[in-house]
Amino acid sequence: QFPLPIPPIKAPTATITNPVTNNPIDYYEIYIKSFTQRVYPNKGDATLIGYDGISPGPTFLVQRGREAVVRFINNATMANSVHLHGSYSRTPWDGWAEDVTQPGQFKDYYYPNSQPARFLWYHDHAIDHTAENAYFGQAGAYILHDPAEDSLGLPSGYGVYDIPLVLSAKQYNNDGTLFSPAQETTSLYGDVIHVNGQPWPYLAVEPRKYRLRFLDAAISRSFLLYFQRSTGSSAKIPFQVIASDAGLLTGPQTVDKLYISMAERYEIVFDFTSFAGQNITLRNTDDIAADTDYLNTDKVMRFVVSPTAVVDTSTVPAVLGHPNFPPSPPPTTVDHHFEFARSNGEWLINGVGFNDVAHRVLANVPRGTVEVWELENGGGGWSHPIHIHLIDFHVIYRSNDDGRSVLPYEAAGLKDVVWLAPGETVKVEAHYAPWDGVYMFHCHNLIHEDHEMMAAFNVTALLD
Ligand code: C2O
Ligand code: CU
Repeated sequence: QFPLPIPPIKAPTATITNPVTNNPIDYYEIYIKSFTQRVYPNKGDATLIGYDGISPGPTFLVQRGREAVVRFINNATMANSVHLHGSYSRTPWDGWAEDVTQPGQFKDYYYPNSQPARFLWYHDHAIDHTAENAYFGQAGAYILHDPAEDSLGLPSGYGVYDIPLVLSAKQYNNDGTLFSPAQETTSLYGDVIHVNGQPWPYLAVEPRKYRLRFLDAAISRSFLLYFQRSTGSSAKIPFQVIASDAGLLTGPQTVDKLYISMAERYEIVFDFTSFAGQNITLRNTDDIAADTDYLNTDKVMRFVVSPTAVVDTSTVPAVLGHPNFPPSPPPTTVDHHFEFARSNGEWLINGVGFNDVAHRVLANVPRGTVEVWELENGGGGWSHPIHIHLIDFHVIYRSNDDGRSVLPYEAAGLKDVVWLAPGETVKVEAHYAPWDGVYMFHCHNLIHEDHEMMAAFNVTALLD
């Protein structure tokens, strides 16, 4: 077993000036390029393509209010588009799938960083090739801090007590190269679980509290995570969920298992204090939705807790964030209904695929309005984690055919991805702001996304 890699922090190469406001802007450069990684010591190398030639890419650590421009330089062989998932970027910098940058070219992306503290991620979004590009390495963490969160006393220090855990699941060929999802048309679940690019790693920790930031960056695999001692009692160990896609929850939610589907982020505080000198295993649960399980897909990573007691001054306050929930609508309100279903070998939304350019704008929403969207899984046993660009939404309803209703950690914050497990219908409520423009929404099973399960909505300008 190998240690958990911590992606390095991305440093700006210069500070420039916003020509309109005169505010400083941090300027970064990222090269998208290939690299090799040997995962099996006795097999050959796998060739990957990542941001700055690593995967996950370097982590951005930014302060709220500090704008950024990132130049993504495509030194790979396939066109790319970059989406900063979780940012309300203006349309030219949102990673629109057809706005691709060809090999040998670059594009500068502007990010306002003016939202509350949250865990975002940047990943490829190129038309028809997102699954391949993300799977071969184009994904990285982007952490936005703000003073309100910093003052809470949560465990802190990137890579010290605040640890990103980027989950993925891949499959290797006999020669050690990566099996490609390029020809897949339904899903690639992967039999090798990676955390921060390393299969089944371990992390040495102190007996104290840690903030763990989970991101499911797999292209098709969802997880139901839990912690248990590596030896002795197999009981699930409780922990506190403190944040989701759009940042801090109203307060910590104590649970002993956590559902996380593709592109979702959940942050937890796990307290290792009473496990000094022991090993704690982070596990996944078999038979989640339609996902195919393999011999070791029920294991994720291990924490090796030092025997030496330490002083831990971090805390988890009972009140965390103040999510800006939209006002609750009358219970029957549905402004738009979207069904996600497979038909004639394509994955469609209300019968429309992204390649149907004339029909793919499925909603017009006046900027500033609050809408409820009902999202329905059209059946067939597949999961569809649905991501809506631009906005943060509140999950206000989940059908419970399969026994699940809105989870406490979904309800206590705002999100930008919601998991439609087989048979589920959910309702999400959002304030369609702050910008107008045409944005994407889609399934985040990246194979479904590449095979047309993507559409657009148009936030229309105010006319006054
Ligand atoms: Cu995380 Cu449209 O993507
Ligand atoms: Cu899907």
